Amino acid sequence: MRIVFDIGGSVLVPDKPDIEFIKGIAYELTKVSEDHEIAIVVGGGKVAREYIKVASEFNANETFKDYLGIQITRANAMLLIAALKERAYPEVVSDFWEAWRAIQLKRIPVMGGTHPGHTTDAVSALLAEFLGADLLIVITNVDGVYTDDPRKNPNAKKISKMKAQELVELVSKSAGGAGASTIIDPLAAQIIARSGIKTYVIGKADALKLFDVIKGNHNGTTIEP
Ligand code: UTP
Repeated sequence: MRIVFDIGGSVLVPDKPDIEFIKGIAYELTKVSEDHEIAIVVGGGKVAREYIKVASEFNANETFKDYLGIQITRANAMLLIAALKERAYPEVVSDFWEAWRAIQLKRIPVMGGTHPGHTTDAVSALLAEFLGADLLIVITNVDGVYTDDPRKNPNAKKISKMKAQELVELVSKSAGGAGASTIIDPLAAQIIARSGIKTYVIGKADALKLFDVIKGNHNGTTIEP
């Protein structure tokens, strides 16, 4: 299979880099890459949001702040490249063609952000679309898609299975802007829907048993094309 992994920055670098998790996920990804072609996109997380907040104090515009966020996603991508060692393509991949070339070279491409106006969720959905991936696996700090934000609404319920169009409707209420956060970027949801990309949204615990996840055994959300 060809699989794209979308790893949230808040998972890799919650407050500071989670070394044990980075080691663990790098091990899992290396193992999976022995049987499958994989590509990875890494997010910026809390660090990106903090930098964007400070830039706001100086009235930086949205595009400027997006570029700032992209820099942080790329720094996080470099940490994962360091952990993946020679299995990874040695530099952060910045476009989809280069990701394709890295796969042909039997290396794992690791991307951060690409352009202003969206998040790394959209990058991973576009990459999955471009590569014709069989599966997109989104690893986030919430363990699946909920009916509402479970950190704000205690009555929110986890959805184990949903249609891509239902995801589009769920996330379309988001406000957007640099540093904005929903379970999945609305643009990513639209790309998943338009190309019928099978997607799993999982949490940190499931991320450390990727072989089960790939077989469909996980506690997150399955988004059916
Ligand atoms: P993230 O992809 O990390 O956003 O990008 P996020 O939703 O906060 O994701 P988590 O918390 O890591 O899961 C951080 C910021 O970088 C800019 C945006 O401003 C985004 O909010 N960015 C990122 C871009 O402008 N373009 C990109 O391709 C990626």
